[in-house]
Amino acid sequence: MTSRADRRAFVRFLAASPLLAPLALSGCADDDGDESLAAALDRMGTYGEPDQELGEVIESADRALDVFDMRVTAQRTLPPAHYGYIATGVDGDVTLRANRTAFDGWQIRPHRLVGVDKVSTATTVLGVEMETPIIISPTGSQRAFHADGELATARAAKAQKHTMMLSTVSTTSVEDVAAAREAPIWYQLYPTSRWDITERLLARAEGAGCPVVVLTVDLPVSSNRLSLTRFIKRDRRDCTQCHAGGKDAYGGGNTTFARKPMFDGITMADADFNTPALTWSFVDRLRAATRMKVVVKGILTGEDAQRCIDHGASGIVVSNHGGRAEESGRGTIESLPEVVRAVRGRVPVILDSGIRRGTDVFKALALGADAVGIGRPYLWGLGAFGQPGVEKVLQILRAELRTTMALAGTRSIAEIGPSSVVRG
Ligand SMILES: Cc1cc2nc3c(=O)[nH]c(=O)nc-3n(C[C@H](O)[C@H](O)[C@H](O)COP(=O)(O)O)c2cc1C
Repeated sequence: MTSRADRRAFVRFLAASPLLAPLALSGCADDDGDESLAAALDRMGTYGEPDQELGEVIESADRALDVFDMRVTAQRTLPPAHYGYIATGVDGDVTLRANRTAFDGWQIRPHRLVGVDKVSTATTVLGVEMETPIIISPTGSQRAFHADGELATARAAKAQKHTMMLSTVSTTSVEDVAAAREAPIWYQLYPTSRWDITERLLARAEGAGCPVVVLTVDLPVSSNRLSLTRFIKRDRRDCTQCHAGGKDAYGGGNTTFARKPMFDGITMADADFNTPALTWSFVDRLRAATRMKVVVKGILTGEDAQRCIDHGASGIVVSNHGGRAEESGRGTIESLPEVVRAVRGRVPVILDSGIRRGTDVFKALALGADAVGIGRPYLWGLGAFGQPGVEKVLQILRAELRTTMALAGTRSIAEIGPSSVVRG
């Protein structure tokens, strides 16, 4: 059996290896550590991502070959705790991995000699004309990844003409992000334990011109983000300047409200971010309280899709929060067919969680999604290079989708259908 000293020596050898140089991070091979080799290697960068998707460190955004080059570059650039906040799944990260591997369970059926000299990715979702079905999913705390935070993302979305959803726990206000995007953005809503806070957020989102409110329903309680905890443990910085409670106060509980401009001027002392008592009646209440279209995010079953429609939702996001909510072990692409069957075209269906390549977008559209959302890929671009990084990620995914469509003999989004894929 290998001794602990041998294991540490081996990890140090690997860390020094030019092969793994792109993954090397300070503190990843602790001399005083007490961890298994597998855990140490995981710390070096393979959390949640299959090995073939590791990417390479790049010097500038334009050098990225795929979104994974952004991932490893962001890991190099960001402090471990902040990168860990992006990377983490829950428990053993099984669902996080399933979001990727489940796409391999579907294969593309190309049609030949179609005449693909003109390919259009244009589509319309919820009355919004889009040049691409790739939407920016909401993610919180973007200034933890780049000083320009949500403004960089909004400017990239504008430059590349993508629809953007803004998180409740953004580090930039909805007014400023809408101004930077120079077009309507969709507002993502986390309910809190106090309805007056919801009313205030809705009023600000409406005032900023948001046509859609995206209600996220997959986190009634805090989820168990173990990989985040492991990344935080190896972050050597003093975090108390930004996180009042230090390292114990990352990414959860009421610290979520701290330094979040949408909560400025609201007394949060008795407010709770967790809302375990929430039921479907909240959707009714929300609909009655706003002019915005209500979309429900976090739906994974046909039964719940039907309930969304029963409660008047205008759209559904099939999402498991990027593997950050329950550890179901099921990739979202596996949930999509039952949701699409239940919805029967009555409202648009958007899928997110695990989209990393144009082929993933294509498969989701073939299985009935009207659009897809991306989370981590644009955050990697943001963390690595700010706005140019986000722009490059959007360009890559759009170009990959267009190439996939042409090679599969599909000239428009409408032509991508059930005959475009087969179960592998
Ligand atoms: C760092 C991070 C922060 C997130 N913050 C939010 C949020 O504030 N609200 C929300 O509805 N979803 C949030 N999500 C989930 C995303 O909207 C989206 O569902 C998920 O990232 C899609 O999976 P992907 O990262 O594999 O593309 C977050 C995801 C990440 C990675």
